[in-house]
Amino acid sequence: MFFLTTAIDYTNGSPHIGHAYEKVLADVITRYRRLSGEEVYFLTGADQYGQKVQQTAEKEGVSPAEYVKTVTARWSALWKKIGVEYDGWAETTDTRHITCVQSILADLYAKDQIYKKNYKGFYSVRQEQFLTEKDKNDAGEFGAEWGEVTEIEEENYYFKLSDYTPWLRDFLEKSDDTILPAFRKSELINALEKNTEADLCISRPKERLTWGIELPFDKDFVTYVWFDALINYISFIGFTPDDTLPEFDAIWTDRPIHIIGKDILVPAHGIYWLAMLHALGFADEKMPQLLVHGFWNSSGEKMSKSLGNTLDPSELADTFGVDALRYYLVRDIHTGKDANVNIERLVMLYNTELANELGNLCNRALNMSVRFTNGIISPGGPLTPDDTALQQSLIDSTAAYRKAMDNHEVSMGLEALNRHIVHCNQYTDRMKPWELNKNLENKERLATVLYHLAESVAHCSVLLSPILPEAAAKLADQVKLPSLTDLKLDDLKWGLIPEGHEIEKPSPVFPRIDVKAIEAEG
Ligand code: MSP
Repeated sequence: MFFLTTAIDYTNGSPHIGHAYEKVLADVITRYRRLSGEEVYFLTGADQYGQKVQQTAEKEGVSPAEYVKTVTARWSALWKKIGVEYDGWAETTDTRHITCVQSILADLYAKDQIYKKNYKGFYSVRQEQFLTEKDKNDAGEFGAEWGEVTEIEEENYYFKLSDYTPWLRDFLEKSDDTILPAFRKSELINALEKNTEADLCISRPKERLTWGIELPFDKDFVTYVWFDALINYISFIGFTPDDTLPEFDAIWTDRPIHIIGKDILVPAHGIYWLAMLHALGFADEKMPQLLVHGFWNSSGEKMSKSLGNTLDPSELADTFGVDALRYYLVRDIHTGKDANVNIERLVMLYNTELANELGNLCNRALNMSVRFTNGIISPGGPLTPDDTALQQSLIDSTAAYRKAMDNHEVSMGLEALNRHIVHCNQYTDRMKPWELNKNLENKERLATVLYHLAESVAHCSVLLSPILPEAAAKLADQVKLPSLTDLKLDDLKWGLIPEGHEIEKPSPVFPRIDVKAIEAEG
């Protein structure tokens, strides 16, 4: 089973397009793996505890439980709206999760992996974490990213993280495919080198925070939000420390992939989570791979509510359509790298690559088949070098698409697909089926040309389906091959369309985005 997850989003704010990107990327990878014939389980959800949530709920005059319920519903409605389909939904206030977190804490406590100590030092409320000297900037101060920093003294429980750092360093150094893309690995190793001594504070006293999972061995404390949140990856698929459920063994079969943003690699996933799993007895061969994506920025700056530079994915979907949004989010960024949100590029990429190229190919090719050959598609006569070049272009594009998609490089996968679409449009311009149609003698040649185009549309609809599932299904519908939606990648061989297959008049799947009309509507 291919098991993949995204980060579970904090429910103390509104989703912006960075959050939507991560979900769409995971959805595209899920659909692609299914198309490759794999069984897939995609888990995502909402991170509902913590001080920030407690504070926002207080400000709004509602209980944290009511607050997270409303906010979570808003997030899950967005995922539905933009076609993100998951198999498991992890809400951390779920009893299944609470029970699992408490049993893990009890187990680690019984094994002496958790101890209590007094701490005096600095604490960032915004990041909900304790700070040390190494968190200060070059000016020797705690920078703005930490928000309000207060000095506190309190007793807390600590997980013996430092016991696991030698294993972790060794494991990471030996492994080339735990951190993807590989260039992020050095960042993690550097962080580990700097911090071999520190243990992880896993509790918060209830005097300060009540909105959390109570420690099973001390009712005056709740669990630190990150320690609880990370456990979602195993709690919702049936893990227990003593005896995991069959469901868990069926899903976590080898190495799952956690898709995360670059801000939560160090220390949360790269250090805490891998160490936690090792402490729970997970073998090295079962350690997750971390697919670390970059950030969508706004004019080079980080998007944040306080800067007022966030974009609401739901509004973008209303204005430009779900296809344009999904396409843009995975097309204009390279997995692992950052990119700048640019709405003009969203419109340009949709209008050029979908409306003009793919949309045009389908409309022209299928309309001509309806008009010139009564909608009957047949392979026609002998092949010319132009035809074999087109078939070769499809073979090459499909191979390049698969290679890119296997490496989670969706943008490069789409580039490969687009190369074939452009090839088809140029072939149409050169073969001029409308001229061929003027002379009955060319009947066979006309059939061959239209067949090559229809066959290309059929292949493209399958290859596009992980990215734009609804549009791809409409395209498949237009070539009237119901089987297209059931095809796997290995079935994609020349000759999907049987001799004498009949199609009907197509309707445009990618209507152009008219910016002027949108602006006029306000
Ligand atoms: N709740 C934690 C994750 C816990 S996982 C056990 C969290 N939540 S978050 O809402 O702040 O972020 C959720 C995901 O969105 C993270 O992977 C984060 O990196 C990603 N992104 C947040 N802003 C982003 C961009 N501007 N661009 C791309 N991804 C972004 O962290």
